[in-house]
Amino acid sequence: MFMEARGWAGKGEGKVVDWLRRRGAGPRRRRSGGSAFCAGARVRGGSRIPEPARPGLSGAAMKVNQNTVLLGQKVILVPYTAEHVPRYHEWMKSEELQRLTASEPLTLEQEYAMQHSWREDTDKCTFIVLDAEKWRAQPDSAEENCMVGDVNLFLTDLQDPTLGEIEVMIAELSCRHRGLGTEAVLMMMAYGMTTLGLNKFEAKIGQGNEPSICMFKKLHFEQVATNNIFQEVTLRLLVTEPEREWLLKQTSHVEEKQYRDRSWWNHEANSF
Ligand SMILES: CC(C)(COP(=O)(O)OP(=O)(O)OC[C@H]1O[C@@H](n2cnc3c(N)ncnc32)[C@H](O)[C@@H]1OP(=O)(O)O)[C@@H](O)C(=O)NCCC(=O)NCCS
Repeated sequence: MFMEARGWAGKGEGKVVDWLRRRGAGPRRRRSGGSAFCAGARVRGGSRIPEPARPGLSGAAMKVNQNTVLLGQKVILVPYTAEHVPRYHEWMKSEELQRLTASEPLTLEQEYAMQHSWREDTDKCTFIVLDAEKWRAQPDSAEENCMVGDVNLFLTDLQDPTLGEIEVMIAELSCRHRGLGTEAVLMMMAYGMTTLGLNKFEAKIGQGNEPSICMFKKLHFEQVATNNIFQEVTLRLLVTEPEREWLLKQTSHVEEKQYRDRSWWNHEANSF
């Protein structure tokens, strides 16, 4: 069990610039890594503004997942590697995804550079989401063939290293509304809580993105702010003790494995 394996115990202009800085400027899924409205999504193609080290976080804090795979029921989370870039790049040509994730298209070369920066940056954590059902049905298939989206955490508050901004994208249309987004977010929050020491999560979502807003509300997030400039809402979840117990229960089936040790590919050994 995941819990056991890991030992889980349980705006004038100046204001806008400051706000962007706090969110970590730079291109990912057109900013510096993940996807949507958070963490610098609005400063495209520019250099990331260096931020001072945060108290309580080691320099490698957010690189901690580079050898981690999380096995869930509907999804498998794996680190974002160069192998995933071509498919990811194809996804992000979609205007719908660009709009929903506040992203701008990158060239393939830029996407490789982005993937590389994600591995190096210390204030973000990203996993590629694989369709577990497809993976089980096609044991010999390349990961790329099972990719459905990504899920990301950003440390966006200099003053508060326990706050993580979360975002998710289920890029494959045929895989939406099947519970994959929900499980990916739950798994990422549990990982952020137990491994990264996070105790509050925020999601910044386009005001018209009802599916995403509904999903986060179902995951106990509450709307705490509206930003009419960027037409987004902020939802927040404070991990109180009852919420922590709930989150651990929701993810008690999840197993954590070593990514490089491909024994997790052995379906016989993983009858989850
Ligand atoms: C938003 C998104 C992540 C949801 O993931 P998903 O796997 O499709 O959603 P789930 O199956 O886990 O659904 C969870 C809940 O979300 C809501 N939801 C999901 N899809 C919905 C839809 N098409 N219409 C209305 N509500 C929807 C529902 O409340 C649903 O609960 P239900 O199954 O009881 O109805 C996914 O649709 C997506 O990636 N969209 C494009 C990118 C994006 O918008 N990312 C978020 C940016 S902040």
